[in-house]
Amino acid sequence: MLPLPRYCQKPKVPPIKSQGIKTRLVPLILSSIQWDGKGWWVEPFLGSGAVLFNIQPDKARIADTNRHVIEVYRSIQTGVLSSASLRESLEQEGKKLAAQGEDYYYEVRERFNDSGNPFDFIFLNRASFNGVIRFNSKGKFNVPFCKKVDRFRPAYITKVCNQVDWVARTLQGKEWMFVVQDWRETLASTTSGDFVYLDPPYIGRHTDYFSHWNDAEADELAVAIKDLTCGFAYSMWKKNKYRENEHLSKHFSQYPCVTYHHYYHVGATEHLRNAMEEALIISPNFFAIEDGRSGT
Ligand SMILES: C[S@@+](CC[C@H](N)C(=O)[O-])C[C@H]1O[C@@H](n2cnc3c(N)ncnc32)[C@H](O)[C@@H]1O
Repeated sequence: MLPLPRYCQKPKVPPIKSQGIKTRLVPLILSSIQWDGKGWWVEPFLGSGAVLFNIQPDKARIADTNRHVIEVYRSIQTGVLSSASLRESLEQEGKKLAAQGEDYYYEVRERFNDSGNPFDFIFLNRASFNGVIRFNSKGKFNVPFCKKVDRFRPAYITKVCNQVDWVARTLQGKEWMFVVQDWRETLASTTSGDFVYLDPPYIGRHTDYFSHWNDAEADELAVAIKDLTCGFAYSMWKKNKYRENEHLSKHFSQYPCVTYHHYYHVGATEHLRNAMEEALIISPNFFAIEDGRSGT
């Protein structure tokens, strides 16, 4: 019997925006995996948390090397960051941004780079250019201002606060542990009843994450997940109009794989969208074969 809903038609968006967000992938994950839910849901690369918060397992071990995303969710878990406290903060900060303009954005960015305050992280995540999360080699957030001084209008604040409220309600009664750690440590703690969803930074593509990612690390991860004693689903890009990702054929040609299309916006206009075929690789014993689909 499945503990997870088999389908989630309208996945919700969490309060953190990120360039690799997988909200739209949730229905495909749910309809492609089979897991009895007795162990832990494990997510070594949490990012925005879109997959976790829509899948809503009872027990989860969640990690990322970006301590700021983990801190936001830990703060919601302890109640320090709530819909009410965030509203107060965004109303105050939004007024200052409207009055002082972009100088104020850079003042908050500097303050955040000293203190790591999760309220400031949400402010910056929502007022930065394209909602990108990017840090320099010294670990300092370095995304420029989105140039909208009236960013924090009442309706926008309400939208973000509702997202925090949804996360806070979802967290209730759940045994979820958020930790800042490298994927190697997270995988080392898995046992046979668990299920791991992996969405690492994409190799061969420009990535702007808290940690760097290269081919050697991607190869190491591929070998490690094939050695897992539990089930897994692994997200990776498959091809675009220029080339195919050799990492998949090198490591996973024998594995079940479902594919879908995603559009990445690389500019302001419609024709600057890049179509990408993405893959979800699933460990064979956990693949739900439905609707005539089969493994590759
Ligand atoms: C593609 S994003 C995950 C996106 C997420 N699935 C979502 O829907 O938002 C990859 C994440 O991996 C994290 N990361 C990068 N290197 C890591 C490492 N060595 N160990 C753990 N997490 C890492 C990044 O900080 C980033 O949050």
